[in-house]
Amino acid sequence: MAPLLSVEAATKRFGGLLANKEISLAIEPGEIVGLIGPNGAGKTTLFNCITGYMHPDEGRIAFDGADITHTRPERICGLGVARTWQVVRAFGRMTALDNVICGALERTNRVAEARARAADLLDFTELGARTHVAAANLTLADKKRLEIARALATRPRLLLLDEAMSGLTPRETAAAVQLVRRIHEELGVTICVVEHVMEVVMPLSHRVVVLDGGVKIADGRPHDIVRDERVISAYLGARRAAR
Ligand SMILES: Nc1ncnc2c1ncn2[C@@H]1O[C@H](COP(=O)(O)OP(=O)(O)OP(=O)(O)O)[C@@H](O)[C@H]1O
Ligand SMILES: [Mg+2]
Repeated sequence: MAPLLSVEAATKRFGGLLANKEISLAIEPGEIVGLIGPNGAGKTTLFNCITGYMHPDEGRIAFDGADITHTRPERICGLGVARTWQVVRAFGRMTALDNVICGALERTNRVAEARARAADLLDFTELGARTHVAAANLTLADKKRLEIARALATRPRLLLLDEAMSGLTPRETAAAVQLVRRIHEELGVTICVVEHVMEVVMPLSHRVVVLDGGVKIADGRPHDIVRDERVISAYLGARRAAR
């Protein structure tokens, strides 16, 4: 089967800084892929390039066989790629419902249809009781859920989650993991998660890709990644020592 997403030797520079250096990876339909690496490794930059908020200086990105290397974000969203932001970007003064309606309107011009879809997704993400609350007044955990609901409203086939669980309590994190599993199982969405919490990434991911200093240093099953000497010295070892 052709990969859903294919990144081929993508390079992104900021002046003299190589944020992504010739990164190649493929995501197959139905996978949950973990994307990990130390701060500044280039994870968010790669998400930005995949979603069209930035374009790689070199290399090629294809989604479902279509070249999206220089495609604009709205068009990439239209093709079926959605993302959440590391720093939540809800429209604070709008209600939770209206935030999700904004996502749904990417797919339909009919407001009633968008509203119904948004209401369904608030229920799915267990935010039904927050429907009419202004986004700014939600807890961090609920803001992160709201971003996921808004992303789902665009009917993605590939969902990119950029630290959707960072800053959450252990209980909130466990609930967020459950939500990611339900998105995968019940909605059939392929998922790529950036997370620093290894206890979350390893059991959740079918495959883990590791970046360090803009370079892909490993790509494999979680079982193998946790034993990979290069990954341990670049990232996992430092995290264990920090505890
Ligand atoms: N818009 C930008 N302009 C200049 N430099 C940038 C920009 N965005 C990212 N960088 C730099 O590119 C490198 C990779 O950053 P990126 O945000 O992709 O890392 P990350 O892996 O997401 O890190 P973190 O885990 O801290 O979120 C860093 O050195 C960062 O400072
Ligand atoms: Mg980041």
